Amino acid sequence: VNVRTRSAAETRAFAGAVAGLLRPGDLLVLAGPLGSGKTVFAQGAAAALGVVEPVVSPTFTLVREYEGRIPVVHVDVYRLDRLRELDDIGFEDLVGGDAVTFVEWGDVLDTVLPPDRLEVRLDPAPIDEADDDRIVTLVGLGPSWQQRGVEVAEVVDRFRRGVA
Ligand SMILES: Nc1ncnc2c1ncn2[C@@H]1O[C@H](COP(=O)(O)OP(=O)(O)O)[C@@H](O)[C@H]1O
Ligand SMILES: [Mg+2]
Repeated sequence: VNVRTRSAAETRAFAGAVAGLLRPGDLLVLAGPLGSGKTVFAQGAAAALGVVEPVVSPTFTLVREYEGRIPVVHVDVYRLDRLRELDDIGFEDLVGGDAVTFVEWGDVLDTVLPPDRLEVRLDPAPIDEADDDRIVTLVGLGPSWQQRGVEVAEVVDRFRRGVA
């Protein structure tokens, strides 16, 4: 399922709606080219999870943790050229537990990620269309997201009607 957003604010709003589905231990993988809005999506979702602190790209630290109604872990792995470096940041211990984890550029790590995850792919609209349009695609993987398929569809539906 996918939606089209027409601004960063719309992507934040959609992320906030998706965040309503999230539970402690969930993993979200944010994929898409540089500048597509992965961090914007993480910001919108984190705000909806009660994170007050501004969520910024974890450029130098790779991982940032935030307090919220549900704790949030934000990882940006595009700089990791070796999977081994994931161990150095304690990646496996970060996923699951009490927090919701957002991993940007997670498609690079497909094979090492837990199978239960929500993939969020952001793509710029075709070049002949508006510069700020993004296609945001949700793919729920694993039993935990298969069970939430109807809820995901409802969130998408409500958003489409709201912005149409
Ligand atoms: N529809 C949209 N959704 C998300 N971001 C958008 C949108 N339209 C324009 N933007 C802009 O695109 C940029 C996305 O940046 P960012 O989220 O850091 O990308 P990424 O993390 O994927 O590299 C921001 O400057 C944002 O304002
Ligand atoms: Mg980013």
